[in-house]
Amino acid sequence: MWILPQESTKGYRLTRDYKYNISEVAMDFTEITDNHCHSVETLDENGKNEFCDPAKISNEMGTDSESFYTDAASYWENIPPTVNGMLGGYAHISAADISGSDAFLRSIFQTANPPGHGRVADCGAGIGRISRHLLQKHFGKVDLVEQCQTFLEKAKDHFKGSPKIGEYICQGLQDFSPPANTYDIIWCQWVLGHLTDTDLTDFFTRMAGALKVNGVIVVKENVSSSGEVEKDDEDSSVTRPLPLLKRIISRAGLCITKDVKQKNFPKGLYEVRMMCLKPKVQQQSKNNTIDI
Ligand SMILES: C[S@@+](CC[C@H](N)C(=O)[O-])C[C@H]1O[C@@H](n2cnc3c(N)ncnc32)[C@H](O)[C@@H]1O
Repeated sequence: MWILPQESTKGYRLTRDYKYNISEVAMDFTEITDNHCHSVETLDENGKNEFCDPAKISNEMGTDSESFYTDAASYWENIPPTVNGMLGGYAHISAADISGSDAFLRSIFQTANPPGHGRVADCGAGIGRISRHLLQKHFGKVDLVEQCQTFLEKAKDHFKGSPKIGEYICQGLQDFSPPANTYDIIWCQWVLGHLTDTDLTDFFTRMAGALKVNGVIVVKENVSSSGEVEKDDEDSSVTRPLPLLKRIISRAGLCITKDVKQKNFPKGLYEVRMMCLKPKVQQQSKNNTIDI
């Protein structure tokens, strides 16, 4: 789903991303100053805009959404509740992943009007790998949202008695609808390819409504460089090209205030982007909205 190894033992499609090989990208950080809500267009290593021809991008995945979700649930039910299971056999990239995320999160906290350290949602939490190694260190409370009960049970075992854990929410993100003013950060990693375009737009819209003032949504996902939505039938997920992901983000009333490429992953994997999203219009109080 999220990793395309050149040699796969799991029968993934073998697609190698030559153009945006992560370890060879020289310029990998584009940032927009806080308080200015723009769409960020990241440049490639030659300083050129990497956007693909929008005409090449499919709007819809052409997928029956019910089987798309049930097939994914069946796939994950058969995956062991381990870090290796969560990372498709690539447990060894977990440290680099967490380290990149930690730097990204710290950079968000250093902006003007940063989010608070109160409550975070780990969306598509799996066994709680990110909650354990990253989020609980930065937030007072962590809620884990995950559709697979077995994974949540594993997380509960680990966090038993920890005051850091708020709720274990066993639910698909397509149905997750937290109350307004709940989260400082909503962290979504390696899961959004399991939502259809329409459900992803609606999900972002609901999450925007659940943010506290100055709250943000973090997206850390693979992106395809082919300009196409690449579908993985094995785990029932898609990998979207960046322009499509950005269009969905914008359609949901959000803008990108930071856009960073993950570094130090092995060659042959999809490019991984970390993006910080804010509502284009942020709620300041019930009757008073501010443009940012
Ligand atoms: C590749 S794993 C990533 C887990 C975790 N984010 C991490 O990085 O360690 C994908 C996770 O998304 C979960 N998932 C798949 N479809 C989902 C959905 N519709 N809603 C919520 N979680 C989902 C899977 O059960 C699995 O735990």
